[in-house]
Amino acid sequence: MASSALEHMIDPMRAVLFGYARTALEYGYGYLGLKQGDEVLYPDLICDMMMVPCQRLGLKVRFYKVKEDLEPDLKSVERLMTKRTRAVLAVNYFGFPQDLKALKEACSSNGLYLIEDSSHGFLGKADGMALGTRGDLGLLSFRKLVPVLNGAALLVNRADEAAKGLEGLKRASAGLPAERRKRRLVPYLKLAQAKYGLPLGRLRRRETVIPPHGSTEGEAMDFRADEWSLSVLAGYPFEKEARRRRANYRKWVERLSGKGFRVVKELPYGAVPSSCPMFVEERDRWFSRYLRKGHEVGVWPTLPLEVWKAGGSAVSIWEKLILFPV
Ligand SMILES: Cc1ncc(COP(=O)(O)O)c(C=O)c1O
Repeated sequence: MASSALEHMIDPMRAVLFGYARTALEYGYGYLGLKQGDEVLYPDLICDMMMVPCQRLGLKVRFYKVKEDLEPDLKSVERLMTKRTRAVLAVNYFGFPQDLKALKEACSSNGLYLIEDSSHGFLGKADGMALGTRGDLGLLSFRKLVPVLNGAALLVNRADEAAKGLEGLKRASAGLPAERRKRRLVPYLKLAQAKYGLPLGRLRRRETVIPPHGSTEGEAMDFRADEWSLSVLAGYPFEKEARRRRANYRKWVERLSGKGFRVVKELPYGAVPSSCPMFVEERDRWFSRYLRKGHEVGVWPTLPLEVWKAGGSAVSIWEKLILFPV
């Protein structure tokens, strides 16, 4: 791993770098020995692109519920466990750490792997540990916090396992093709904006239309970690980034309070948010309004089609969730 600031945060002995977290997860499943027909449990509030590794490996995904506070509903997890279940994925939504104690216990007493998906936030800590290091495997995706083209990590956290097999994984990830350089323009602009405070983001076309659910279920991104992105990460001022994000989160909370917005997550000590998530009625109206005002607001990307069709609590959460940029 060619990166000092990054190495400071993630242990290179335990990390394998990829372009994207979905690819990291696919290799992670392979590493754990998951096979066709095995089952994995996902939270129902999940990006549809996380279906890619399961579709490719022939794994069955079953969806457990997340509660209004976006914490895992343990009863729902336990109800879904079968003889074929091999792993449970938990997501640190928007960089806010999940309370993993009970889930971890349930996984270890049922012989299941716990995967801590911290793709939204690799700078935070919880329980005195870096996010992504609390499960058997961890996932990080750097571009969600730092303006780079790509870059993700698979963390293999079991001390006994870390020693074996990682070299093979590292060789496999290095053998993946490089992503097209043309796509670097957007991260270049974002980086210049972050460094010099120029409002270059305004030059970019914004996504104003919410795509259909399930539309990225097949969107594989099999690339190795981009060299330019790794060099940016190597010298990146992560502490400053963390402070800025925490301060911006607080500003949004202050600005939006009393206007019909509801805080989804309080900011715990050590968390570094990827956005400031809020619940609001008539979300789409607010979404367009803040976009028009020039703020890069977002919504949760698209849900897996199966979740959307089931129309359960994840859909109600999705419908009122709006993300303010921090
Ligand atoms: C929780 C979560 N995990 C993983 C991913 C996929 O990350 P990547 O785009 O790096 O594959 C996403 C996508 O945004 C996500 O929301």
